[in-house]
Amino acid sequence: MLEIKDLHVKFHNRDREAVSGVSLTIEDGEILGLVGESGSGKTVTAMSIAGLLPRKQCRTSGEVLFEGYNLLTADRKILRSLQGKKIGVVFQEPMSAMDPLMRVGEQVGECLRIHTDLTKEERRERVLKSLEEVDLPDPESVYTKYPHELSGGMLQRAMIAAAIVIRPSLLLLDEPTTALDVTIQAQILELLKRLNKDLGISMLFISHNLNVVRKICRRVAVMQRGELVETGSTEQVFFHPEHPYTKHLIESIPTRDKRKENA
Ligand SMILES: Nc1ncnc2c1ncn2[C@@H]1O[C@H](COP(=O)(O)OP(=O)(O)OP(=O)(O)O)[C@@H](O)[C@H]1O
Ligand SMILES: [Mg+2]
Repeated sequence: MLEIKDLHVKFHNRDREAVSGVSLTIEDGEILGLVGESGSGKTVTAMSIAGLLPRKQCRTSGEVLFEGYNLLTADRKILRSLQGKKIGVVFQEPMSAMDPLMRVGEQVGECLRIHTDLTKEERRERVLKSLEEVDLPDPESVYTKYPHELSGGMLQRAMIAAAIVIRPSLLLLDEPTTALDVTIQAQILELLKRLNKDLGISMLFISHNLNVVRKICRRVAVMQRGELVETGSTEQVFFHPEHPYTKHLIESIPTRDKRKENA
């Protein structure tokens, strides 16, 4: 579905590459986990796929292959349609990702306005359907609300609705549950699993927490200082880590969590 080959990203104002030779494949229909400590290059990797890198501030090489195109070099028109319509993005902080002055429904429908020629009424219908798909109660009322009127969990659901409203084939989720409390986090993970299964959307799920990744991904890739140090089935990586860094990541999970997991 998506193949990254030897990706390098170097910011001009940094000595070290942010991403240093990463090769990674996201299979059709899977949720691939990407873990690693802060600064290891997870977000930069996702931004390379989404076309969100500040192009003037960095140099890239390698390939990000999607639907026959290299997303690092394809021309703008193609990127606009691929990255706008086929690849959805959800970030950690729903509040800062939303425009505080725009109604939630309009924001969820924003990418339909930009990328389709649906009428206003058709867009509204699609948005309401999306709000329903992410289990927001009373979509009609959520539609007319402003971001500050929703809880963090509801906002994150709205962000997911915004990302799937145009029916992307790939969803990039960058720490989508990190800002949420544990109960809400579990609900969002369930929701993502369901969307993956019911709508067949492939996902890249980024987290610094291997324990969260375990709940939702069969396969996981581990990054350290811009490089991929280990890739494998989540169970394999969790129970038989090969790389010392992965062991370190697992050891840093609070024991309480681990016990609960094994119970
Ligand atoms: N716009 C930028 N300009 C310069 N350096 C950047 C920029 N964006 C990211 N970096 C650097 O690239 C490296 C990788 O950052 P990245 O945000 O991908 O890490 P991360 O794994 O997502 O970390 P976190 O878990 O904290 O989100 C870091 O050293 C970071 O400082
Ligand atoms: Mg990040």
